[in-house]
Amino acid sequence: MTDSALTFCVPMRGVIQRFCALVVLGAFYFSVAHPAHAQQSAAEPAQIRYDNTAHTFRMDAADVSYIVGVNESGTLQMLYWGKRLRPADPFPEAHANGGSSAFDLPVNATPQEFTGWGGGLYVVPDLKITFPDGNRDLVLHYVSHAIQLNTLTITLKDISRDVFVDLLYEIDPETGVLARSARIRNHTKERFTIEQLFAGTWNLPGADKYQLRYLTGRWAGEWNLQQQAMHPGKVVFESRRGSTGVEVNPWFAIERGSQSDQDDGDVWFGALGWSGSWQIDIEQDWANRVRVTGGFDPFDFSYVLAPDQSLQTPKFYGGYSNKGIGGASRLLHRFELDSIVPVAPHRRLRPVLYNSWEATGFDVNEAGQEALAEKAASIGVERFVMDDGWFGERKDDHAGLGDWYVNAHKFPHGLKPLIDKVHSLGMDFGLWVEPEMVNPDSELYRNHPDWVLNFPGRPRTEGRHQLVLNLAREDVRAYVYGFLDKLLTENDIAFLKWDYNRNWSEPGWPAAPLDEQKEVYIKYVQNLYGILAELRAKHPNVEIESCSGGGARVDLGIMHLTDEVWPSDNTDPFDRLSIQDGFSYAYPPGLMMAWVTDSPNWMNNRSTSLDYRFLSSMQGSLGIGANLNKWTPEDFANAKRLVGEYKAVRATVQDGALYRLISPLGGSEYSATESVARDGHEAVVFAFLHSSQQGNAFPDLYLRGLEPDSVYILHEHVGKLQDSTVQRASGDYWMHHGVTVSLRGDFQAAFFTLEKEGAQ
Ligand code: GLA
Repeated sequence: MTDSALTFCVPMRGVIQRFCALVVLGAFYFSVAHPAHAQQSAAEPAQIRYDNTAHTFRMDAADVSYIVGVNESGTLQMLYWGKRLRPADPFPEAHANGGSSAFDLPVNATPQEFTGWGGGLYVVPDLKITFPDGNRDLVLHYVSHAIQLNTLTITLKDISRDVFVDLLYEIDPETGVLARSARIRNHTKERFTIEQLFAGTWNLPGADKYQLRYLTGRWAGEWNLQQQAMHPGKVVFESRRGSTGVEVNPWFAIERGSQSDQDDGDVWFGALGWSGSWQIDIEQDWANRVRVTGGFDPFDFSYVLAPDQSLQTPKFYGGYSNKGIGGASRLLHRFELDSIVPVAPHRRLRPVLYNSWEATGFDVNEAGQEALAEKAASIGVERFVMDDGWFGERKDDHAGLGDWYVNAHKFPHGLKPLIDKVHSLGMDFGLWVEPEMVNPDSELYRNHPDWVLNFPGRPRTEGRHQLVLNLAREDVRAYVYGFLDKLLTENDIAFLKWDYNRNWSEPGWPAAPLDEQKEVYIKYVQNLYGILAELRAKHPNVEIESCSGGGARVDLGIMHLTDEVWPSDNTDPFDRLSIQDGFSYAYPPGLMMAWVTDSPNWMNNRSTSLDYRFLSSMQGSLGIGANLNKWTPEDFANAKRLVGEYKAVRATVQDGALYRLISPLGGSEYSATESVARDGHEAVVFAFLHSSQQGNAFPDLYLRGLEPDSVYILHEHVGKLQDSTVQRASGDYWMHHGVTVSLRGDFQAAFFTLEKEGAQ
């Protein structure tokens, strides 16, 4: 323990936004050096302080304070998490809460930061261990701490055994988002078995009412926002599927009170950075105390820790906003864009891409792809991606996965002629891969039937005619890394669409020692991350998209190693509005690939105009997935204009602050979003009408996030605004008088921008 209070200030990032154009193979990209875009308190530096009198740790950053303290029994507990307090405000002292009766021991009522299962704990433990002598009691007390820049490590130890837990807290200076993880160290003389391990517990401040939001989905119907009042009891979100999964995403938001407003109210939110089986438990007790725990899924879990070994959990991120769920998602977007995705903070804006999957399916070949590439280039596409079907004996989804050599019938001269052609058209080249899978009908499986997840003597359940390679095995890891490295070394490839099209079954690892076989859940993901990290290091210009039969592998773990994600195979532009809206609660529009595809759409036979399809996709990272061979000259001209307009606003859409003006939730007839540029120079608005009913007028749009006194000039790009005579007015005018959009009919859309006068 230190003798005096320690203070470490974290330097804020530069405040000047800078765009630099990079010329890559004739295509233009922009890298953005981000300003300090903290929502509040930009002037106050982030800091972590320790008060040795109160035995309290206080973390302050952006507009958030997080305070924990050690109580009289040595337990670490949460004291405050919420809006940033004044520097001179008192450091509270920690005291264990008393239990209310003999049935309710104090350990359950005290908001512990990290709970070991022992000493009468009934709430969800963060750590449960079975020792070789049969003892299963674990009580963790504070032993030491260290503060380094924006990181605080607090070490706990069991009261009698040499089991140490380092609690790692990292606070983001720009957003106040905390990253928490726990490292378990075995300094006993024997192996012990970890049966449950979470990153830590988020304790929420008291309230009599809370609302919970989370995201659920299924294939082609991802990202449904669920909202419900919370009651005493436990809600469990998990994936037992071996990967993140789509049924529920590892993200939550809890709002205090029962009235929800997009941009007002106290919201606590969190997201788990793990792409394997996971669990988040949200418990509310009889006194309305809320605890959120999350980490490795305890189902079918065990991990043997040998003496002097350690195991670290995934990071569980948590944040707070007093600007409602809208403010919470803006903070999270900022954090994800600046601190999670690779090469942050000098991230590249997403190029406009073309992908032929919906146009050609598996039927790819050199001439067909080259013809599409020429057409794509003519409308301003910057990246041409060839999807499934180019390798092995891949005619359909029954064969070929695992055999990562170029199919000689489809590409007799290899990939080089196509790649050269794409480059000559001024685009870079991307390729689809599904590295973790194998079809039983493949050379790889015939040679290595033991390389898949399996239980000996049991059926191997196929999904999409494929099995999952056991990436936990070092030989499989070496094979997967090897073929990807070779592919990227031998070909000038700028982008991989990394797919993953089924969940696990029979998750056996027969080659591992018996008591280590369940470690497959962790070692698989560690090796996946390892491969991605190594590939990125060796091929730093290659970008990667995480795709999983749509949006089934989107989380902050995979996002740390990839550049964008595919949110859904559903490309119907109307369905996409709610899919994209749901996605935006947890993840930024700039990382969300959105294609313009054919009409009628393959999913639902719905017909929509090209303008409508473009505007829906322009809410995210624009791509084209239509069969360009069927387009008319008017389609090409229109698409070229809209691609150009998208490029002009993409920095704002991909990198700005998102305001949901009208949510498409609940089957609303209308929806509208607004993105405000980081430097405030413009706002970009998209509005959509599903279908006019009973002559109802489109609701006026009251813009948000503008500077009240600045003057903005309105530019109409698509769709009519009613009062086109007013084109120049103050931020206050646009925010309070609003804009009247005159959309009528079915599947209509409008796109307009407001440019701040005098902005560069
Ligand atoms: C998945 C993806 C699609 C496409 C196919 C190819 O379903 O989500 O976009 O790449 O695989 O087989």
